[in-house]
Amino acid sequence: MASGFIRNAWYMAGWAHELDQGKIARRIIDVPVVVIRSAEGAPYALHDRCPHRFAPLSRGRVTERGIECGYHGLTFDRDGTLVANPLTGVLPAACRVRSLPVHIQDNVVWIWMGDAEKLDVASIPRFACFENPNYRFVYGVIDAKANYQLLTDNLLDLTHAAFLHPSFGGLSYRPKASMTQQGETVYAHYLVKDIPNPDFPEIFWSSHGKNVDLWDDIRWNAPAAMYLESGVVLAGRPREEGYIVPAVHVQTPVTAARTTYFWASALPADSSLQDDEYQAFMSKAFATEDLPMIESIEDRMEGSPLWDLEPVMLREDAAAVIARRIVDTRIKAEAAAVESAG
Ligand code: FES
Ligand SMILES: [Fe+2]
Repeated sequence: MASGFIRNAWYMAGWAHELDQGKIARRIIDVPVVVIRSAEGAPYALHDRCPHRFAPLSRGRVTERGIECGYHGLTFDRDGTLVANPLTGVLPAACRVRSLPVHIQDNVVWIWMGDAEKLDVASIPRFACFENPNYRFVYGVIDAKANYQLLTDNLLDLTHAAFLHPSFGGLSYRPKASMTQQGETVYAHYLVKDIPNPDFPEIFWSSHGKNVDLWDDIRWNAPAAMYLESGVVLAGRPREEGYIVPAVHVQTPVTAARTTYFWASALPADSSLQDDEYQAFMSKAFATEDLPMIESIEDRMEGSPLWDLEPVMLREDAAAVIARRIVDTRIKAEAAAVESAG
């Protein structure tokens, strides 16, 4: 069993379009999984390790019957049952693979990593923005050598933009931060008034040289799924006159010190900006500004849990701290349930 992660949760395994390749192989909370596109019906997921000699099934071939291991040809169906043994025809009942529930919603392939009887599709956070015809989206997948919660902290705390992101306002971006909580959903809010329009959002929403007000509203759901709305309007004008751009950021733990970071960012559907230009603009901010900082923080923490190092928290850290508490509480509750059952 994985430790240090919530098990009874949906984790993002990939963008739905990644399944166009036939399968997605990822390690999630330290478990290797493969999600397989099926010719007849919904995709399915299996533990990505053949029970014979432990070859990754993702190195095999998808057939009509299931996935054929690329080492000795055993084939497993969507339930993980062995259905073909090309060498002897023998099908030992013990030779089976764990199957994991998959659900596709809002362009995201979700996978349930916990106990099947606790599965709850209604708990998956919604990203209705993908249905909005006023936007088109660019997508990214980043391999980050850092704990997933450091990446969550980073997004829930946008005050770092002043120092890390010249194209998002740089030193003129000094926002007022606030947060709210509804059940296990955390909201962080940022507002900055009367500054020159930064490259983002100027890149798709020009203020024609006038100052603007900017705001960011972020919704967080455990373990690490975030929906952002970044707004811009001419300084002093009502928000309704402005423009809002949505974004989705989901961090999937690979191991305690590695994360698959999924992001999607919108631009106006009718923008003359090319998708690849916008993709490059957004990737640059993350890959050359956030990522080196966060990976070096991971390195400096030397594998210690955050609280063990007694960080000095500031008021602006409130949303990230509450989000961490929610995750910690869920992990403890799962451990207590396992202990009382055992
Ligand atoms: S390792 Fe998969 S069939 Fe042998
Ligand atoms: Fe950042």
